[in-house]
Amino acid sequence: MSSADASPSQIVPGGPRHVAIIMDGNGRWATQRGRPRLFGHHAGAKRVREVVEACPDFGVEYLTIFAFSTENWKRTQVEVAGLMSLFRRYISKETRGLSEFGARVRFIGDRVRLDKKLVKLMNELEEATAHNTRVHLTIALNYGGRDEVARATQRLAQDVAAGLLNPDDVDEETLPKYLDTYVLPDPDLVIRTSGEARISNFLLWQSAYAEYEFIDTLWPDFSKEEFGSLCAAYGGRDRRFGAVKT
Ligand code: FPP
Repeated sequence: MSSADASPSQIVPGGPRHVAIIMDGNGRWATQRGRPRLFGHHAGAKRVREVVEACPDFGVEYLTIFAFSTENWKRTQVEVAGLMSLFRRYISKETRGLSEFGARVRFIGDRVRLDKKLVKLMNELEEATAHNTRVHLTIALNYGGRDEVARATQRLAQDVAAGLLNPDDVDEETLPKYLDTYVLPDPDLVIRTSGEARISNFLLWQSAYAEYEFIDTLWPDFSKEEFGSLCAAYGGRDRRFGAVKT
C-alpha cells in the first residue's frame, strides 16, 4: 500500500466523515463471466484495498464494510467455507499493508460462531493496527443489526440486574454504548452496490440519519472515481436532521 499523503485538493468540503458500504454483487459479477461465485468474492476482496486507500483522498476517516452477515450462513456450505477461508487469507496477507498504510482495523459482529483460527487472526489484526489513526476500517463479520441490538440489550439488562444501571437512566445515549460500534461515529453515507435498494440488517440503529446511495455497479467493478463522486454528491446535500432550515 502507498503511504503517500492525500492530495488536499480532492477532499470534498462537507463530505462524509464515515462511509459504510454493503458490498453486493460479487456472485453476479462472477456468473456474468461464467465463473464460480467465489471468484467474484476474491475479486471483491481486491477492491477493498483500493477503497481503503482512497479514503484519505476524499476526507473519509471511517469506513465500515459488510463482509458477512448473520444471514449469510444460509448460503451453500461450499460458499460459506470459501468465504471463511478468504477472510483468513485476506487478514494474513493484508495485515502488514494495512498497518503500514495507517489503517486501524476493527471487527464488529458476533465472534462466537466464527472459527477460532479466524478469530485469532482478527484479534491480531486489531492489535497490530491499534495505534493507527489515518483511516478507521471496520469490517462487519457475522454481523446483523438486529443481532447486535439484541446482544447489546442483553448486556444492558445484565448491568441493570447487577445494579450498575438504573432503568430510569436508559435513554438514546445509553444503548449505543452497548453496541459493537460504541467507539465509532454514526455513518453519514451508506452505499449499496449492485442495484438492490435495501439495507439488509446493516447498522440499523447507527444509520438513522444516514444518506443512502444505491448504485448499479457490482462491487468488483466499484472504482475510486465512483467513490469520489458519491462523496462529492454527499457534500452537496442539505442535511437537516429533522430540523427546519433557518
Ligand atoms: C455480497 O455479494 C457479498 C458478500 C456476501 C461477501 C462480501 C465479501 C467480499 C467483498 C470479499 C471479502 C471482503 C473482505 C473484507 C476480505 P453476493 O454474493 O450477495 O452477490 P450477488 O448478490 O451477486 O449474488
